[in-house]
Amino acid sequence: MAQNLRVLITGGAGFIGSCFVRACSGMERFSRIVNVDKLTYAGNLENVQSVAGDPRYVFVRADITDDKEIDQVFAAERPDLVVHFAAESHVDRSIHAPAAAIDTNVRGTFTLLEAARRHSVGRFIHISTDEVYGDLEIPHEADEEYLLRPSSPYSASKAGSDLLALSYHRTWGLNVTVTRASNNYGEYQFPEKLIPLMISNALEEKPLPIYGDGLQIRDWLHVEDHCRAILSVIERGRAGQIYNIGGNRSLTNREVVEKILAATGRSTDLITRVTDRPGHDRRYALTSAKIERETGWKSQIDFEEGLARTVAWYRDNAAWVTRVKSGEYRNWYERNYANRDAAMPENQ
Ligand code: NAD
Ligand code: DAU
Repeated sequence: MAQNLRVLITGGAGFIGSCFVRACSGMERFSRIVNVDKLTYAGNLENVQSVAGDPRYVFVRADITDDKEIDQVFAAERPDLVVHFAAESHVDRSIHAPAAAIDTNVRGTFTLLEAARRHSVGRFIHISTDEVYGDLEIPHEADEEYLLRPSSPYSASKAGSDLLALSYHRTWGLNVTVTRASNNYGEYQFPEKLIPLMISNALEEKPLPIYGDGLQIRDWLHVEDHCRAILSVIERGRAGQIYNIGGNRSLTNREVVEKILAATGRSTDLITRVTDRPGHDRRYALTSAKIERETGWKSQIDFEEGLARTVAWYRDNAAWVTRVKSGEYRNWYERNYANRDAAMPENQ
């Protein structure tokens, strides 16, 4: 990887983006780390508090659908590399209120691609998901050429943005690479997704709501393995290519929940079956053979070990869970960052 890279990360206050920001801050090759985030309910600057003192790091509060704001950031920061995480990432929310997913995931990606093209950005990594392949029957697994059959507004918006990103490579030669990861888990994940929701409910001895029969299958990838995979794609991945990233650990939701109950020492009596998600995908499965072959990456964190660490983190950070659920971090943001909020780079 080249040295002195100026990286612009979108969605760096969210779950995976914040892990990536923290990883970049630990690497000398990045001379500038720009975190662009709107701070929706899912974005929280506490997640990147540990890097706030890094002189190479700057936070810019901006909406990726706002082409003026985004153009200003690109003009001021002149990134060599964009790593695009920002999204409305929750399937259930995209079912209840699809507009935000379409705006951010499709329109927002388009806005960034246009800015990247105008400002001749050298590299654009578009972070996507295995959900674009839809559900697969056993024993099939999706490689990068697999048919796209998204089931929800979220996954359809991600599939659309993947294709849009690849079209910028074909049409204008923009150096775009798409990554498609399986279900992530780990610290700082908003407690609406399966693993953090079940851990925090178990710790609080609240019911654990399993959708339908709980036999849906997901592949689980630790967020740090995901971020290492993205770094390996930046280093060795090819332009115009797609790379699947999986954790090589398929489990039913019920198995995941039972492991969480065992790790938290709570009874299976807390499991409650609730109405299924409309259009619920039964099984995701993908092969990571391409990224392993081309970049040498392999997932390293065993699920049981990663889950134990995650449970310990949520146990130790119960106050974080309370704050993000109540939106209290916004007040924290105003107190700590008010003078940096309007601070588009040119004002600093
Ligand atoms: P997240 O919901 O935790 O974070 C999303 C971040 O994007 C938040 O900080 C939010 O404030 C920001 N954001 C949302 N709309 C924005 C906008 N209009 N402008 C600027 N910022 C905005 O999401 P996550 O789970 O960290 O997912 C990150 C990316 O990885 C997404 O693109 C998602 O599709 C993809 N992905 C997620 C998973 C997973 O299991 N979580 C798996 C594969 C791929
Ligand atoms: O596969 C990658 C995708 O994983 C990412 O692209 C998405 O951004 C991410 O949210 C995730 O999507 P899922 O829909 O798979 O994740 P979620 O945590 O919402 O649900 C995981 C499984 O657990 C799914 O089968 C639905 C089920 N579930 C979820 C919740 C929140 C329950 O049974 N009960 C619940 O309360």
